[in-house]
Amino acid sequence: MSRVLVTGGAGFLGSHLCDRLLRDGHDVLCVDNFFTGSKRNVAHLLDEPYFELMRHDVTFPLYVEVDRIFNLACPASPVHYQHDPVQTTKTSVHGAINMLGLAKRVKARILQASTSEVYGDPEVHPQREDYWGRVNPIGFRSCYDEGKRCAETLFFDYHRQHGMDIKVVRIFNTYGPRMHPDDGRVVSNFIVQALKGEDITIYGDGSQTRSFCYVDDLIEAMVRMMESGPGFTGPVNIGNPVEHTMLQLAEKVLALVGGRSKLVFRPLPADDPRQRQPDITLAKDRLGWQPTVGIDDGLRETIAYFRRLLEA
Ligand SMILES: NC(=O)c1ccc[n+]([C@@H]2O[C@H](COP(=O)([O-])OP(=O)(O)OC[C@H]3O[C@@H](n4cnc5c(N)ncnc54)[C@H](O)[C@@H]3O)[C@@H](O)[C@H]2O)c1
Repeated sequence: MSRVLVTGGAGFLGSHLCDRLLRDGHDVLCVDNFFTGSKRNVAHLLDEPYFELMRHDVTFPLYVEVDRIFNLACPASPVHYQHDPVQTTKTSVHGAINMLGLAKRVKARILQASTSEVYGDPEVHPQREDYWGRVNPIGFRSCYDEGKRCAETLFFDYHRQHGMDIKVVRIFNTYGPRMHPDDGRVVSNFIVQALKGEDITIYGDGSQTRSFCYVDDLIEAMVRMMESGPGFTGPVNIGNPVEHTMLQLAEKVLALVGGRSKLVFRPLPADDPRQRQPDITLAKDRLGWQPTVGIDDGLRETIAYFRRLLEA
């Protein structure tokens, strides 16, 4: 049994990670300031003897004894991370410094939840880990993109300078139960609009593509990465390479939910990438991992979750 710290553990991905780590027999400390996460996401774990929930903001130092740190704390959706952009950069950068400092003191292995946003609006397609990205440093998304890029820099500098045992995963769009209903992300948006019988909003002409990874696949990859050999730092892409246009996704959601929603088109927001698709060759080679959940199965689970949430 390892003592595992999950920052951002009450969020969408973090709560699924806590579930998994407890199932694997670990002692889990979930740290969250509940900015976008909620106690509801981990309420079912509160009576577990090996689960502990701590309210804490990672921009402040933390002193705990742990063997492993999964650093997920950071709002992930544009509406949330643009709400207080200075705090978003602080969470990524000061949060990384604080968690790396903790890992250094207690000699813990530490994994950073980075993002495909480090590639910005890419000129190469699909994106491989050795592509450096095309990121606007002064735009509305920069607090997130540049914050995450700086966090990666810090991870690799701590690794080179202090010999620390680091792991970096670059997460591509992930969806599943416990996503926020109002976070403006495309999967939750479409599902909630369809369930409420509202029009489904498509930005641009709907021809821009995204690839979507189901949360269970993502968590499997993160756990494999954490337990991979000490020589392998990443960064490693984790995502589902199967691409869908926004129009295809909207039609799929509509077909699965049923109802009478119409598709409506709105202007594309600034800096919105046209296309994003992971090259997961490295994850396949080094982690023996690839996604197993198809979009229809994943959407069904997610729709069932939102249906329960909206009916509650
Ligand atoms: N979901 C995705 O598709 C996706 C894609 C790429 C990267 N990621 C990364 O994965 C991580 C988790 O994303 P998510 O989708 O679960 O988002 P989320 O917003 O549901 O979870 C983030 C969690 O971090 C917490 N948090 C935010 N600021 C904090 C702070 N200063 N101190 C402590 N806790 C704080 C929030 O309250 C929340 O519980 C994030 O780092 C995100 O950047 C997610």
